[in-house]
Amino acid sequence: MSGLECLHVILLREVSSAGAVDLSVKIGALRLRNPILAASGTFGYGLEFAHLVDLNRLGGFVTKGLSKESMEGAPGPRLYPTPSGMLNAVGLQNVGVRAFVAEKLPVLRKFDTAIIANVFGYSVEDYIEVIRVLEDADGLAGYELNVSCPNVKGGGMQFGCDPIMLSEVVAAARKTAVKRPLWVKLSPLVTNIGLIAQAAEEAGADALTVANTYPAMAIDYRTGKSCLGSPTGGLSGSAIKPITLRLVWETRKSVKTPIIGLGGIETVEDVLEYLSVGASAVQVGTASFADPRASERLIEALTKVLERAKMFTFNEIRDRFRAENS
Ligand SMILES: Cc1cc2nc3c(=O)[nH]c(=O)nc-3n(C[C@H](O)[C@H](O)[C@H](O)COP(=O)(O)O)c2cc1C
Repeated sequence: MSGLECLHVILLREVSSAGAVDLSVKIGALRLRNPILAASGTFGYGLEFAHLVDLNRLGGFVTKGLSKESMEGAPGPRLYPTPSGMLNAVGLQNVGVRAFVAEKLPVLRKFDTAIIANVFGYSVEDYIEVIRVLEDADGLAGYELNVSCPNVKGGGMQFGCDPIMLSEVVAAARKTAVKRPLWVKLSPLVTNIGLIAQAAEEAGADALTVANTYPAMAIDYRTGKSCLGSPTGGLSGSAIKPITLRLVWETRKSVKTPIIGLGGIETVEDVLEYLSVGASAVQVGTASFADPRASERLIEALTKVLERAKMFTFNEIRDRFRAENS
């Protein structure tokens, strides 16, 4: 029997009792209405989706990456479809943290959902400056550090690929982020994600988001040019799900810190698989391009699956795979 078939059997065996399904989850000190969030870079600043999606129903959403100054981003084309996935090279275009606080946050604050600010930089000081500006603003539930950026001062190596550099940036961010939880979004481009996860945990991360996109490329052999405006991009979508699922499991075996899993989630089964290898919540990215309501649709589907199974919390699902296979 596959892991998913096992899970369905467990779900169906659950004892019936009265009461409503409780989809709420705790990520450290932060309680979310449900375990489904929209992922950074695929949901704008949230506002762009507000006429299509009921933001108040989401577990939350993660903003586009925010930098200390506005960034124009990469030349087009920025997106390119691949079999079972998508390549992107957006180049972290964003309005900059101060414009986000002045223009977007006042409108966002009216929604009753957890807004997580995704933060990036090219030096430790960059990250700290962005967090300092956000600390003075109301209306955020937490921060997510994108550590897949090259550390320009440190020779261009990604923060997320080296445990020492990662520790440094997470510890500095932790010291600055006194008001809110700090999530660290790991890069999948590592040989041992357990070591990286331990470094982030020891430096004070409240949760680990696993994972970002996979560096990849697509070329047109007739012209000899990239199909993107940049030579390479990041691969996302269903093509990456099996790889990231393993990364979540490897991370779960190495740390106690809660994990938010993401990579290729499109169906309720995908959500259940991530939870069963140890994620406490998930994010939905590329699926929102095909269906902007993807996250809301998954919340509805998850509620139905649990109701049908007469199951009222996620306790039976989470870590199920780990329990059987470790
Ligand atoms: C167009 C696009 C832009 C993205 N921008 C960001 C970003 O600014 N910061 C970040 O941490 N991740 C960014 N990501 C990565 C996603 O949040 C997510 O980690 C990745 O796409 C894998 O999930 P998925 O397969 O569900 O899309 C971006 C992804 C896409 C497709």
